Amino acid sequence: MILVRFRGLLLVAAAVPLFALGFSGCSGGESDPDMSRPSEFGFQTSLKTTLVEEGGNAYKIYCIGCHGETGDGNGVAARFLSPRPRNFQNAKFKFSSTRSGRLPSDEDLRRTIMDGLKGSAMPGWDMIPARTVDALIAYVKTFSPRWEEKQPATAIPVVDDPYRSIEDKSEAIARGRAVYHGFSTCWACHPSYASEAEINTYLVSMDKPASAGFRPNLMESEAKPNQEGEVIYPPDFRRDFVRAGGSVDDLYRSIAAGISGTAMPTWVDSMVSHQTSDPTKVVTSTDDLWAISYYVQSLLMERPSRLDPETVTVRARPHRIYSEGEAFAPVLDIEPTTTDEDFEGDD
Ligand code: HEC
Ligand code: HEC
Repeated sequence: MILVRFRGLLLVAAAVPLFALGFSGCSGGESDPDMSRPSEFGFQTSLKTTLVEEGGNAYKIYCIGCHGETGDGNGVAARFLSPRPRNFQNAKFKFSSTRSGRLPSDEDLRRTIMDGLKGSAMPGWDMIPARTVDALIAYVKTFSPRWEEKQPATAIPVVDDPYRSIEDKSEAIARGRAVYHGFSTCWACHPSYASEAEINTYLVSMDKPASAGFRPNLMESEAKPNQEGEVIYPPDFRRDFVRAGGSVDDLYRSIAAGISGTAMPTWVDSMVSHQTSDPTKVVTSTDDLWAISYYVQSLLMERPSRLDPETVTVRARPHRIYSEGEAFAPVLDIEPTTTDEDFEGDD
């Protein structure tokens, strides 16, 4: 009995695709009146169409609440989020293995969707089947013509990691600290983790002039607007999350490729330098991107696992998330100098 039913099921399952194939194949006599739609006949086109449709269905279930029906990043939850969900209509993506300003690869989008972006509202969707993720990628691309217009960008080169096989990473970390402070001056935006005197020593060791002065709040991040005009803080690696992953490979990718639409530069093309007095002497090389990655990772690992209010202060940030009906007014720690009464009776 069970066997018979099982066979019946199998028969039905096999009949459906056969029927579908037969149907599209034999409709030859009638022409399709809607010429704006891709023809159902032809293996590639119909495969792409179904993938996009499948992606559209999954998008409505998982993504629409934040990224919005039209992909503009204005889903119902968006107004509560900082940073805001990505607007897919202009196809500007932040995290990729391609140089800043270029479109990400499918692999990059897959990584973002599967792993999420830690420290933002973007969740990781690793429970979604791989085929559905492919479908979501195909669907996300339908929101912008840029995907059709631009050639797929090539990934940044990944040089061999000279420290990979060495168990003790202290040499890599020390070198990274020197390059972070003395050559790339990452502290122009991210915090410095060295004193001003140490920075100057590092600068001179990298054949650069010592700095005459430093920005105020050198030990904190410098606020930088992104291309949407949102004020964002480059992460303080001792305290904040990095979005696109904290493994050395992730960090190499983020640092080398840079982050599109933000102040974070592409570093991979500007790491090579030679001594001015003796141009045969190498001062820095692309290998140093690995050293920086190990150094940044060592800072990430200093992150307190628990927030201890005695040792961790939350930096005052100029914006916060407002709930519905709440007045949009900056929250200040200082007493306001004017009160509502000051304005009353002023007629
Ligand atoms: C709870 C809100 C939320 C949901 C649901 C959500 N996202 Fe996001 N997503 C975000 C936010 C916020 C960002 C921007 C993070 C940032 O700027 O660092 C983002 C960014 C992205 C990015 C851009 C990454 C980049 O490199 O710029 C992609 C792609 C993306 N989401 C895809 C999806 C897909 C696909 C789904 C559904 C499976 C989804 N998101 C569901 C909030 C969400
Ligand atoms: C001109 C300013 C600027 C400089 C210089 C700069 N950064 Fe950034 N960096 C940023 C900004 C802005 C972000 C935040 C982007 C975002 O999340 O929107 C960022 C983000 C990052 C991230 C986080 C990536 C993630 O996954 O979230 C890493 C890692 C990073 N920077 C490393 C570095 C290193 C290392 C250097 C020096 C070699 C450096 N940055 C120099 C502005 C800068």
